[in-house]
Amino acid sequence: MDLNYVTRIPCNSTLFHDFHPSNSTRKAKISKQNCCVSLLSIFGIGLAEHLKKTTLFQLPNLPTSVSCLHDFHSKLDFLSLLNDVVSLCFEPTQFVITPDLFADLGDLMACDTCLHTGNKVHSRLMAIDGNHSHGTDCFDFIVLYATGIANEFGPESDGTVTCAFA
Ligand SMILES: *[C@@H]1O[C@H](CO)[C@@H](O)[C@H](O)[C@H]1NC(C)=O
Ligand SMILES: *[C@@H]1O[C@H](CO)[C@@H](O)[C@H](O)[C@H]1NC(C)=O
Ligand SMILES: *[C@@H]1O[C@H](CO)[C@@H](O)[C@H](O)[C@H]1NC(C)=O
Repeated sequence: MDLNYVTRIPCNSTLFHDFHPSNSTRKAKISKQNCCVSLLSIFGIGLAEHLKKTTLFQLPNLPTSVSCLHDFHSKLDFLSLLNDVVSLCFEPTQFVITPDLFADLGDLMACDTCLHTGNKVHSRLMAIDGNHSHGTDCFDFIVLYATGIANEFGPESDGTVTCAFA
């Protein structure tokens, strides 16, 4: 990820200076939360760029995540932060693709779960959209996403084909 945008963000560093990790008062917890939410918003811009380029919401592995967070930390240098807020707020694993996001759809249980989840996503999206004539397209897009992206074995794998015919 290219994190150079970080240094261009007009950011109020007071938010981060108020954060005292050794302090467990209620006020300190709130300032930690505010600090971490703001940091996630800033890091999230990079994750959104990554999503746009790769169609993946998360990073491929732990070393990548560790290295991105390290880079993020150094880009925040201009804020002269007192603490390593990046490692206090984030666990590198939280940005890594977890294997349970994927399942081989050839397993009929997984296929069924996938279909069930697809139906749930479909009803939510249709409730938001409100136009029932988009129903079929909407379901097709969900299926394309599930087979093409959420499924690590790819659309042409035996598992995907088995699921499609099941
Ligand atoms: C930064 O935030 C603090 C506390 O919320 C506020 O008092 C200050 O005016 C802000 N500074 C700028 C430049 O917005
Ligand atoms: C903890 O927070 C309280 C209230 O903001 C402050 O008075 C105190 O100095 C803080 N202690 C430390 C160790 O930061
Ligand atoms: C519903 O979607 C169809 C197809 O895109 C469109 O022609 C129609 O105008 C939409 N209806 C409403 C109420 O937006």
